[in-house]
Amino acid sequence: MSFCIAIDGPAGAGKSTIARRLAGKMQLVYVDTGAMYRAMAYHLLLKGTDFDNQDEISRDCQDADISIVYENGEQIVLLNGENVNPYLRSEAVSEKASVSSTNGDVRKRLVLLQQKLAEHTDLVMDGRDIGTCVLPHAQLKIYLTASVHTRAMRRYLELKQKGVSCALDEIEQDISERDYRDMHREISPLKKADDAMELDTSDLTIDEVVTAVYRLAVQKREAL
Ligand code: DC
Repeated sequence: MSFCIAIDGPAGAGKSTIARRLAGKMQLVYVDTGAMYRAMAYHLLLKGTDFDNQDEISRDCQDADISIVYENGEQIVLLNGENVNPYLRSEAVSEKASVSSTNGDVRKRLVLLQQKLAEHTDLVMDGRDIGTCVLPHAQLKIYLTASVHTRAMRRYLELKQKGVSCALDEIEQDISERDYRDMHREISPLKKADDAMELDTSDLTIDEVVTAVYRLAVQKREAL
């Protein structure tokens, strides 16, 4: 059986940074499932799908062949054979991914792909439903949180550093809306698995979080 670590939590809690660093330290593969939902949203945007129409989303998601490969340890998402990584972080894709990821057919396709990846590979997988739905038997489950203000501030500073002008209150609003959608959708809503360790990262540095999670992961692996 493969050794799997599930990291879940809301947008901006630090999941991907922590998961990537942890995977590097433990020589595990890092799987960013959010990127798969983003690739699906990008596919639907290209097709001109009406995101208010669940039947259209269900129909149009069927011809998206999404897979992932690794180049120098970096995850590349292929959409119908094309590397779509450069298109996945735009605001439009972020917003639409939050909508199309509520669709049951989208989730069915992507969860299957994620479970297949974990069958024979030791990995760290991050997302919203990894501990509760995708990998319920993961050996370690972490639920990362941080206040809305902290997460908005992190995003604000990241955008400012890139030279993108933005307003903190708009980012806060956006994060609150996305949280609400992720936590209240009918299928696989974002929630802490009963056996997950919850870690509030609001007042912790990245190094502190990585160290804490690394310790837990090493203990789990040694106990196998
Ligand atoms: O983690 P992220 O921001 O890249 O995720 C993009 C969107 O996909 C986000 O709105 C939540 C959704 N998502 C999901 O529903 N389930 C996952 N396992 C991962 C992401």
